[in-house]
Amino acid sequence: MSPRDLADAVARDYADIFGEEPAGVWFAPGRVNLIGDHTDYNDGFVLPFALASGVAVAAGRGGDGLTVWSRQWPGDLVTAAVDELAPGRLDGWPAYPLGMAWSLARAGYRPGDTSIAIDADLPAGAGLSSSAALECAVGLALADLHGLRVVRPELVRLASKAENEFVGVPTGIMDQSAALLCQAGNALLLDCRSGTSDDVSLEPGAAGLAILVIDTQIRRALTDGRYAQRRRSCEAAAVALGVASLRDLPDGPDDVAGLDDPELRRRARHVVSENRRVLAVADLLRRGELAAVGVLLTESHASLRDDFEVSWPEADVAVETAIAAGAVGARMTGGGFGGAVIALAPLAALADIGSALSAAYGRRDWPSPVIASAVPSHGARRLR
Ligand code: GLA
Repeated sequence: MSPRDLADAVARDYADIFGEEPAGVWFAPGRVNLIGDHTDYNDGFVLPFALASGVAVAAGRGGDGLTVWSRQWPGDLVTAAVDELAPGRLDGWPAYPLGMAWSLARAGYRPGDTSIAIDADLPAGAGLSSSAALECAVGLALADLHGLRVVRPELVRLASKAENEFVGVPTGIMDQSAALLCQAGNALLLDCRSGTSDDVSLEPGAAGLAILVIDTQIRRALTDGRYAQRRRSCEAAAVALGVASLRDLPDGPDDVAGLDDPELRRRARHVVSENRRVLAVADLLRRGELAAVGVLLTESHASLRDDFEVSWPEADVAVETAIAAGAVGARMTGGGFGGAVIALAPLAALADIGSALSAAYGRRDWPSPVIASAVPSHGARRLR
């Protein structure tokens, strides 16, 4: 679905539910991370780009407090007063939009009464950041509707706080940054320590290539504890090595040799090597050498699989199969334990890769993966 069609659909839902036209419709995209996973909360580097799919929010002033409705969970119409919002009081999807309102209010940007309808053309739990897209679309809507002057980098921070403190998942700032800061035709090289970012041109079609997003259909929730456990291991490794964060190990994988615990050593080695790969990929992109990025993507996958241990069997098979069928590189993307794999492939190989993936999954009695070509797209914006 195009963002326009999604905007029309959510505006119709809003009118049906709230009995009037919305004041506007706002949209925030999902993201694919080209490379740099589990580096953001280590103050490191990431290189995501925005998808054309995402979350649209139709909103209007008025009502009693904040009322949210979602096409994806159509049974629930949830209402809360801004002053009653507090971490731990809400579970499930309403924690994302209402957590955003809480985060804005706590920073002094108090939104007035608002009714909100939500729709998405992005699967939840597929590792494509539907939750950050939801927070960011709601954040933009509340800011615009109530004249709150929040600049985008501040909105990134407040959306991350909503996720960390209100929803209670200790994620980094990559997903919210991608949703709010990405530009069409570019990936976003983000330094997660300073928060500064650079657009790096990424136009696969012009190079005769495509970036396939292969949804392995395995769903995961970052709230299940394994993500938090990885983050704690990284923090423990940094303490043991006497640095503020793993970002401060610039010389490469040898830097982690001082860690006695073999598991911590593997975790830290992933982060240190992944930071170097992100910067190497950004350099190749700047030089227009997109195909050469492939080998680094595949190395990143091996590191996430063997050292960081966040891959899953369907992802490993997708990576191997795509490469055997002609992709120049492939990797899992996002937090792991389920979700999507990306493959960088020549346009001429796409049909072969699609049939090889279906066959490989079929042989294992796995449901077929859902494959789409991703085009680096615009970040969050008002659609009407
Ligand atoms: C999830 C988190 C991000 C990031 C990735 C892994 O998407 O939300 O902050 O840590 O996992 O790179």
